[in-house]
Amino acid sequence: MRALVGVGGGIAAYKTAELVRALAERGVEVQVAMTSAAQQFVQPLTFAALTGRRVITSLFPAAGGAETLSSAVEHVSVAQESDVLVVAPATADLMAKFAHGLADDFLSTAYLAFTGPVVLAPSMNNNMWLHPATQANLEVLRSRRHLIVGPDEGLLACGTAGPGRMSQPDVIAQAVLSAVNLRRDLEGETVLVTAGPTQEPVDPVRFLSNRSTGKMGYALAEAALARGADVILVSGPVHLTPPRGALVVGVRTAAEMRQAVLDHLERATILIKAAAVADYHVAKVPEHKVKKTSARLSLELDPTPDILAELGRKKGDRLLIGFAAETEGLQQEARRKLKSKNCDMVVGNLVGREGAGFESDTNEVILALATGETLALPPASKRDVAGRILDEALKLRLALHSAQ
Ligand SMILES: Cc1cc2nc3c(=O)[nH]c(=O)nc-3n(C[C@H](O)[C@H](O)[C@H](O)COP(=O)(O)O)c2cc1C
Repeated sequence: MRALVGVGGGIAAYKTAELVRALAERGVEVQVAMTSAAQQFVQPLTFAALTGRRVITSLFPAAGGAETLSSAVEHVSVAQESDVLVVAPATADLMAKFAHGLADDFLSTAYLAFTGPVVLAPSMNNNMWLHPATQANLEVLRSRRHLIVGPDEGLLACGTAGPGRMSQPDVIAQAVLSAVNLRRDLEGETVLVTAGPTQEPVDPVRFLSNRSTGKMGYALAEAALARGADVILVSGPVHLTPPRGALVVGVRTAAEMRQAVLDHLERATILIKAAAVADYHVAKVPEHKVKKTSARLSLELDPTPDILAELGRKKGDRLLIGFAAETEGLQQEARRKLKSKNCDMVVGNLVGREGAGFESDTNEVILALATGETLALPPASKRDVAGRILDEALKLRLALHSAQ
C-alpha cells in the first residue's frame, strides 16, 4: 500500500515523523510532500531519511531539475500511484484550501488530482479550530467522506488549553489502515498471479523473449494484497519492485513458470495468468555460444508447455483468469481462448497501440466472461484496471455458484 503524506505548517509537524515511521512499520510505502510553511518547522531531510525517498517540496521543479523527475506532472502521477492521502498536521489553511478547491501548491493540487480515501489530522490553536470558518470547512470535508482524526483536547503548544492537539501518530496510522482496508473482500483468498515475460535460451548468452514488462501482473498482485488476499506472484524477469507481502517466485523459462505454478496450485483459490509466456523454445540449446558467420542461421523451435490449458484441466473449483494479447480480432480470440482453455474469464488487450498493452502504464481491455457476457472497460491506469478485474472476478464467482 502506498500513502502520500502531506505535512502542513504547524508545530505538530515534528510528530509527523513518528507517523511516517508508524506507517512504515505497518508495511506502508510512504511518499512525503511538505508545504513551504511545513519546511519552517521540520527539515525535508528528516522525512527523506525516514522514507528513503526524495521529499516533494514544491509544485514546480527547481530550474533544470525537471529532467531528473520521474514525471513532469508529479502532482498527478503521485496522486495516481497513491492508495491514500494523509495530511498531518492539517492546518486551518490546508483545510480551507481543500474545502474550496484551491490549487496553488503541490499538496492542494495533488488533493484535487487524488480520487482515493483522504485522512486529515487537524492541529491548531483552539480558537482557530472553533472559528466558524474552520468549522464550516470541516463540514465540507466531512461531507466528502474524508476521515477526520482528532484533534484531541489538551494543553496546546501556544499555551492555551482546548481542542486543537494533533492525535497521536499511532492513532492516525491505524485510521489510515482502516480507511484503505475498508474493502477487504479478498480476505481468506489466495491469489496466484503470473507476471512478466519468459526468456527461452538460444545459447548460453542469448534468449528469445517478448516486450512484457510485468506491470499488469504486478498491479493485480498489489490490488489483491490491498484487499486482504494472500498473494503468490510467479514472475518472469522484470525490472519492478515486488509488492510487499507477496510470496514472490522468480522464474526464467516457460518450463520453470509451469513448475512454479503447479508447485503452488494447491493453495490457490484464484489463478490469474497475466504473464506473457513464450509459445516456443529452442529445441536443442547448444552448450557453447553460437559463433557469428555470414551464413543464414535457422533455429528449430518446439512449443512450450501450455500452462493455461493445463490449469484449465486441473483448476477444480478455482477461478481461472487468462490473458490474451492480440494485435487484431481481440473479442473473437478472447472468447475462443475462454472456451478452449476452460477459463472463467479472459482479459483481452490489444497490444501494439499507444496507451495499452506492453510497456504502458495504462491499459484498455475487454473481459470475456464464462457467463457469456463481454465487458469493455474504459482506458485506465493498470492499477484501476486490476481493481476492476478483481471486482468482476468476485461477481463472476457468485454468478457461477448461484447458477450451479
Ligand atoms: C510558530 C507557528 C506555529 C503555527 N502553528 C500552526 C498550527 O499548529 N496549526 C495551523 O493551522 N497553523 C499554524 N500556524 C500558521 C500556519 O503556519 C500558516 O497558516 C501557514 O500559512 C500554513 O501553511 P500550510 O497550510 O500551507 O502549511 C503556525 C504559525 C507559526 C508562525
